[in-house]
Amino acid sequence: MWKTFRSVAQFDSFEFDRTTRRLKRVASVDDLRRLAKRNLPAGVFDYIDGGAEDERSLATNSTHFGDLEFRPRVMRDVSDLDTSTTIFGKPASMPVVLSPTGFTRIAHSQGELAVTRAAGRAGVPWSLSTMGTRSIEECAAANPDGEKWFQIYTWKDRKLVEDLVGRAKEAGYGAVWLTVDTAVLGRRERDVRRGMTLPPKLGPKTLIDGAIHPAWTWDFLRAEPITFANIVGQHAEDGSTAITLADHVARQFDQALSWDDIEWLRSFWDGPIVLKGIQTVADAEQAVAMGVEGIGLSNHGGRQLDDAPSPVSLIEPVKQAVGDQATVICDGGIRRGSDIVKALALGADAVSLGRPYFLALGAGGEAGVDWLLDFLRTGLERTMALTGCRSLAEIDRSLVDWKR
Ligand SMILES: Cc1cc2nc3c(=O)[nH]c(=O)nc-3n(C[C@H](O)[C@H](O)[C@H](O)COP(=O)(O)O)c2cc1C
Repeated sequence: MWKTFRSVAQFDSFEFDRTTRRLKRVASVDDLRRLAKRNLPAGVFDYIDGGAEDERSLATNSTHFGDLEFRPRVMRDVSDLDTSTTIFGKPASMPVVLSPTGFTRIAHSQGELAVTRAAGRAGVPWSLSTMGTRSIEECAAANPDGEKWFQIYTWKDRKLVEDLVGRAKEAGYGAVWLTVDTAVLGRRERDVRRGMTLPPKLGPKTLIDGAIHPAWTWDFLRAEPITFANIVGQHAEDGSTAITLADHVARQFDQALSWDDIEWLRSFWDGPIVLKGIQTVADAEQAVAMGVEGIGLSNHGGRQLDDAPSPVSLIEPVKQAVGDQATVICDGGIRRGSDIVKALALGADAVSLGRPYFLALGAGGEAGVDWLLDFLRTGLERTMALTGCRSLAEIDRSLVDWKR
């Protein structure tokens, strides 16, 4: 009996680092989400995880990937796989972009610095939001050789946007996302219920929530106060007054944004422009007619207009309409390498994602983001091997079918 026991008994050495220990037990983005939920105060988790109104678009962004079935090819010698590509002429190790997210330091004090460093290591483009909590310049210094994109909203004060884009250009950012789906803020009812403000205000509920998440609270209190690092002292709050995101957007964003503004953006930015938030074929056609280089099929991760179409459902009709006139990016709902293959099979040139890395940051800091990017790469490679594709060029429309 002892001999049999000895032959099967295996004890791993104890892992002293709590983050590493926990990440070892994570197997999927869903697991990361659960871990983030455990680590973060409820209001913070809901700010990241939540969507608009009944959260139907948030749900369908991911579930529509499950409506696609593979038509895998076999016996194709997949011993040597290549996931690399180029996006706007710059090399990327895989067709994945990290989308811009505001207030990233709410999940971890390192915030955007941790995310951009991880993206740099993984060889994928990373995006800084105008509502970011680390400055354009410090993010560039943290990831000097990696590809960096900058995202803008159109502020009522256009000069502010021109200055920000000028700074991004100076710091070597290679593309600009112009977010076009946020004329007003979507109604995110989890935030309404919790009275979520940025920065979070301290009331009895927040204090109790903080006390039951001591690691997050310790990290939050030890770091310098969170501010919108690029617009502080200009036209936004100075970080000392807590207001709701909806109030901020209503005060600062220009609802008069129109197609004419592409020309305005061109007058001070000569690099690629990606319109983030295209949700119809007609608008995709208009974008290429205006000479825009990138189409970001996106409903803001289901945080703006509920019942907006899922980005994955738009890829094929948009690709048919615009062909190779623009780079098509599917933004939203990507949770696995197999989702990346499906998006590419329908005609996307790349995918981008927000919550998975934001939650990874909450689950395990910078190591969590490294974990996620490795998970996506290995998932992409595994799906390519199982569907008989040796390179991204071999991923074509014959690889998937809609189940319905
Ligand atoms: C917490 C959070 C903050 C976001 N902040 C911004 C932002 O500042 N600017 C922007 O254009 N999009 C923002 N987005 C949308 C993302 O860029 C992206 O479109 C979305 O997360 C994609 O969906 P996914 O979360 O399913 O990957 C945010 C998303 C989340 C979850």
